Amino acid sequence: MITVTDLTKVYRSRGRETAALDGVDLRVREGEVFGVVGRSGAGKSTLIRCINLLERPDSGTVTVAGQDLTALSGRELRAARTRIGMIFQHFNLLSARTVQDNVELPLEILGLSGQERARKALDLLDLVGLADRAKAYPAQLSGGQKQRVGIARALAGDPQVLLSDEATSALDPETTRSVLELLRELNRELGLTVLLITHEMDVVKAVCDSAALMRSGRITESGTLDELLATPGSEIAAQLFPVGGESDGPASTVVDITFHGGTASRPVISHLSRTYNLDVSILGAAMDTVGGRQVGRMRIELPGPYEENIVPLGFLREQGLQIDPVGAGADRVGAGAAGLSTLESAK
Ligand SMILES: Nc1ncnc2c1ncn2[C@@H]1O[C@H](COP(=O)(O)OP(=O)(O)OP(=O)(O)O)[C@@H](O)[C@H]1O
Ligand SMILES: [Mg+2]
Repeated sequence: MITVTDLTKVYRSRGRETAALDGVDLRVREGEVFGVVGRSGAGKSTLIRCINLLERPDSGTVTVAGQDLTALSGRELRAARTRIGMIFQHFNLLSARTVQDNVELPLEILGLSGQERARKALDLLDLVGLADRAKAYPAQLSGGQKQRVGIARALAGDPQVLLSDEATSALDPETTRSVLELLRELNRELGLTVLLITHEMDVVKAVCDSAALMRSGRITESGTLDELLATPGSEIAAQLFPVGGESDGPASTVVDITFHGGTASRPVISHLSRTYNLDVSILGAAMDTVGGRQVGRMRIELPGPYEENIVPLGFLREQGLQIDPVGAGADRVGAGAAGLSTLESAK
C-alpha cells in the first residue's frame, strides 16, 4: 500500500547539513498497522512528512495505493493527499471552531455542501465515539477526546492510509490504550492501512502487525513482529521483549530462548537438563502478548564456554526454539547468529 524507495532528504541550515533521510526503503502492506520506532532525531517525522509530500524528498519515490506521489504536482497531489489521513501529537485542532466544524473543515475543502458536510461529520464523530460532543469546543475536551476529533478529521476524505506521528505521546497510558484500540478498530472495520511513528515499544506491542527501526536516517531492520522476534540479534525484538538476568561468570554460556506458539507449552528445559545431564540456571523469563500472540522468552545459563555447549544448543534449536547467545557467547558465534546487529555495525 505504501512503498518508499531510496528516499533521501538533506536539511541545510546555517551552513550545516543533516541527512535526515539517507536512503530509506520501506514497504507497508495493505491493511496492516506498521510502526516506525527510533531515537529522537532518527528521521521518523521527516519520513512521514515525505510520505504525504508535505515535504519534498531530495530523491527517491513514494508510492501510495499504486500512485507515485513524487511524480505528481499541484492539483493531482492535493487530490491524492485527501486519500491519506494524518494525525498529530498535539492534535492541531482549531480552538475557535466546534468539534463538528473542525471535522467539517477538510470536507469544505473537498467542496461538499453544508448538509453533506454536517451529515458526514456527525457520522465520523459517531465512529470515534464523540457524537454527543459535536457542539463542544476543543478546550472543553480531554486529550483523548481531542485526539478522537483529530482522527475523525483525518478520516474525512475517506482515506485508505492513515499516518500518525506520535499521536498518543501526549496522552496518559489508559487514554493511549483507548486511542490505540480505536485505531485498531478502524484498521479492521474500514480496512485502513496505518503507518504510525512512536517511541513507545508498548504501542508497537499493542497494535502493530509490523515494525521498522530507524537510525540516522536509515531503516536498520523491518518486518512483521513475528519475523522480527524470529530474527537473531533483532533490536526491536529485544526491546519488545526484554529479559534481564546477569551471568555468573565468564566460564558459562548465556542464551536467550524465544518460544513461539506451540513450543511455549513443552517442558524443553527439563528435557535438555536430563538429556545432557546439565545444570541449567534460569536467569530471567517473561511471557507476553506481542502482535496478539503469546510469546515467551527465557534467559538461561549453561556451565562451560559456548564451544562446549554447541550440541545442547543445537538440541534446543531442533525443538523449534530460537536461540540468541548473549554476551561473550554472542561475540564468538560471529555473523551467523549475531545477524542484524553485525550487519549493522558493518555498514
Ligand atoms: N526543518 C528542518 N530543518 C533543519 N533540520 C531539520 C528539520 N527537520 C528535521 N531536521 C533534522 O533532521 C533530523 C531528523 O529529524 P526528525 O524530526 O525527522 O527526527 P525524529 O526521528 O522525528 O525525532 P523525534 O523522535 O525527536 O521526533 C534531525 O537531526 C533534525 O534536527
Ligand atoms: Mg518526530
